[in-house]
Amino acid sequence: MDKLTFILICHFGLEKVLKSEIRKLGLEISEVTDGEVKAIGNLSDIPRLNFNLRTAERVMIEMSIFKAVEPDELLENARKVEIEKFVPVDGEFLVTKANQDKNSVLKSSQANQKTVKKAFVDRLKNVYNTNVLTETRGKYPFRVKFNKNICSIRLDTTGDSLHKRGYRIKSGLAPIEETLAAALIKLTEFSKDKVLVDPFCGSGTIPIEAAMIASNIPPSVDRAFVSETWDAISRESWKKARAEALENINQERLSMNEIKIFGFDIDSNMIRIAKENADRADVADIIHFETCAVRDFWNLECLKNIESGIILCNPPYGERLEDKESIVPIYKDLKTSYEKMKNFDMHIITSFEDATKLLGKETKNRKLYNGMIKTYLYSYLVNV
Ligand SMILES: C[S@@+](CC[C@H](N)C(=O)[O-])C[C@H]1O[C@@H](n2cnc3c(N)ncnc32)[C@H](O)[C@@H]1O
Repeated sequence: MDKLTFILICHFGLEKVLKSEIRKLGLEISEVTDGEVKAIGNLSDIPRLNFNLRTAERVMIEMSIFKAVEPDELLENARKVEIEKFVPVDGEFLVTKANQDKNSVLKSSQANQKTVKKAFVDRLKNVYNTNVLTETRGKYPFRVKFNKNICSIRLDTTGDSLHKRGYRIKSGLAPIEETLAAALIKLTEFSKDKVLVDPFCGSGTIPIEAAMIASNIPPSVDRAFVSETWDAISRESWKKARAEALENINQERLSMNEIKIFGFDIDSNMIRIAKENADRADVADIIHFETCAVRDFWNLECLKNIESGIILCNPPYGERLEDKESIVPIYKDLKTSYEKMKNFDMHIITSFEDATKLLGKETKNRKLYNGMIKTYLYSYLVNV
């Protein structure tokens, strides 16, 4: 098969972080737009991208891109998409998602979905010379994206979003997505010999992702992918990519005892859950979790001999109006504790608009979306 164009989806604002992850896997970047990075690769890159990318939500193949302003134009162009390269005669092909774009003439996602599905039925009946498509084997989820009358048809290789690593079975009310946590860690320039402290760790996502990064544990090697059963991707590619990803863990694990990652939370139930999650992620031995209020963590015995490091946290946002007042003391306590940790950089992701009034002027900030919530990552840096 010729070269493929992959579309890697990420949180808005984190395209650069994803780009550098993709480059490290040896793929060439061809385009970057809001929340999407395109890269050129081969079939055998599908397992590699899915197993190893920490900050992408999913890995899709761009099957075709064309202009369409009339339903017939969409139908005709979709009929030309060579989906038989992936979908066998009995394959179940779904057009699961079509985005709605008010800047395109063809606005109705439902209608576009239907048109593309019809085009694919026509195509497969024609190329396989049959009247019956049983759609009984495998799953081939296609998506249609319109942007200013340009239609991009994608085939999803991931299935369940990549933030579902599998280790976080339990969480609190507002857990941060694993992919976002990993991206924030990368933005802090954390590495395995630095100390990382999360004083609002909840279910442990930030410390767990940091521990996985520090020990080179691939994020998604233990989960299933929709493309695992496809004939187009050899079993050998999956086996080889899995072995390669796991091989890196063993080498890194040798220097594990240097790692210092800490998670604290006022809620002892959350600390219990965080420990269970860390255990499932196979990093429980390299994270210290402890029940502690943010006001007191600077004074904990476990941090006594530590001189410098990174604080990275996702405190309560007070999203509901009635919660706003109650979170003020939490931000004040964070400020007081941070003042005691002189050589630590601090990074906070929050949507709370009064955060910097309470914490002081940040060194820099970055706008990010945590799901649908507009947030900022405020950074307080020791050496600017
Ligand atoms: C937005 S959640 C953090 C979620 C976490 N990143 C995760 O992925 O599960 C905020 C956490 O702050 C904790 N918290 C609230 N007040 C606190 C305080 N005064 N000191 C320490 N932790 C506090 C809550 O128990 C909650 O787990």
